[in-house]
Amino acid sequence: MPAIAVVGAQWGDEAKGKVVHHLCRAAGLCVRFNGGANAGHTVEDVWGTARLHLVPSGALHRGCRGVIGHGVALDPWGLERELGELMVQGRPEPNLYLSERAHLVLPHHRSREEAEGVADRIGTTRRGIGPAYEDRVARRGLRLADLADERLLREHLSRSAAGTGFPGDRDRIAAELLQFRDRFSDRIGDARDRIARALADGAEVVFEGAQGTLLDLDLGTYPYVTSSTTTVHGIGWGTGVRVNLTRVIGVTKAYTTRVGEGPFPTEDRGTVGEHLRERGGEYGATTGRPRRCGWLDLVALRYAHAVNGFTSLALTKLDVLSGLDEVAVAVAYRIGGQLVEEFPAAAEELARATPVYERLPGWDEDIAGAHDFAALPAPARGLVRWIEDAVGVPVELIGTGPGAQAIVERGAG
Ligand code: IMP
Repeated sequence: MPAIAVVGAQWGDEAKGKVVHHLCRAAGLCVRFNGGANAGHTVEDVWGTARLHLVPSGALHRGCRGVIGHGVALDPWGLERELGELMVQGRPEPNLYLSERAHLVLPHHRSREEAEGVADRIGTTRRGIGPAYEDRVARRGLRLADLADERLLREHLSRSAAGTGFPGDRDRIAAELLQFRDRFSDRIGDARDRIARALADGAEVVFEGAQGTLLDLDLGTYPYVTSSTTTVHGIGWGTGVRVNLTRVIGVTKAYTTRVGEGPFPTEDRGTVGEHLRERGGEYGATTGRPRRCGWLDLVALRYAHAVNGFTSLALTKLDVLSGLDEVAVAVAYRIGGQLVEEFPAAAEELARATPVYERLPGWDEDIAGAHDFAALPAPARGLVRWIEDAVGVPVELIGTGPGAQAIVERGAG
């Protein structure tokens, strides 16, 4: 029973959506376990470009059911909107199943995020994610299961209104939540049990991480992180299933990007950063913000491997590096005169890090859409092999463009 985890090895936006969609061609379930509508997973297929925030990427395949685990902060309005956008493209409605234990993101979570200044301080996606997770740990959240009891729902909304200037009309919010409950009534339930049964029946299950290791609440660049468990450890946390994973795939771009505030040692504010942003279309899928761009950081990638235990890597957007004279990769940092090879825990320390670069030859050839590893220019193949050696993990998939077909498969290694 193949159980495959796909997690971001950087600060999110590693093109996990495309990788997950590719891996789910024969999967029975695709499971989201963390994050919420802060995620922006882009999939380009025959129907067009889907920008997914809550719908698991694999659920765009007809045979694959999308499961939203209890670790996801679920914005019902966001999910309805997203499904509406998919319908406009003429797609069949994805087959979804929602955990009754999932906490809801409500309108006051967004207004709290603004009012408390956290949106600007951290550079969040302004989707109410932090405040929704705060309510969850403070044991005052509203879960999907609570929608079964209208009285409880109304009480919850008036309690929240008393605490925080509740925006909008409470009656309307209650009515819309009840409508959502009714529309999904046969698709809300014990997601943990569904996943466990699918695994026991031998179905292929793909767990789709949102954001990336360096945005993990505990293991990321705190406090410039998101509020959920973004690593492989989030699978147990966000589904309640003890999964024996057969593969753990770390997704990394061939360079690095970050959105929002926080340290980013290899950030390049010059022509290299500009090249990566323009060729890579590095603008947020959720917020449209220009992403900060820079070279690949092996200190961070080795750390992500130590945290997650990758069995292979998916190296995405390799085509974006075409046209650069040389490609640099950070192999260590200098912090206050010391050579450092471990990823620091303190954001302040990471902010003082100057990367030590290894420089490799670049290539001019356009490799967009390439499928065949042997046909890639020698410096591109050299870079892939060099990364494999440096991290100690095989590169199984290589992304060569946004389309679903633009992928080089090298086998699970
Ligand atoms: P929040 O998740 O909206 O609270 O934002 C916290 C931090 O995580 C900010 O730096 C966001 O830019 C970042 N972030 C959240 N979701 C994503 C994502 O899907 N991709 C990239 N960055 C993200």
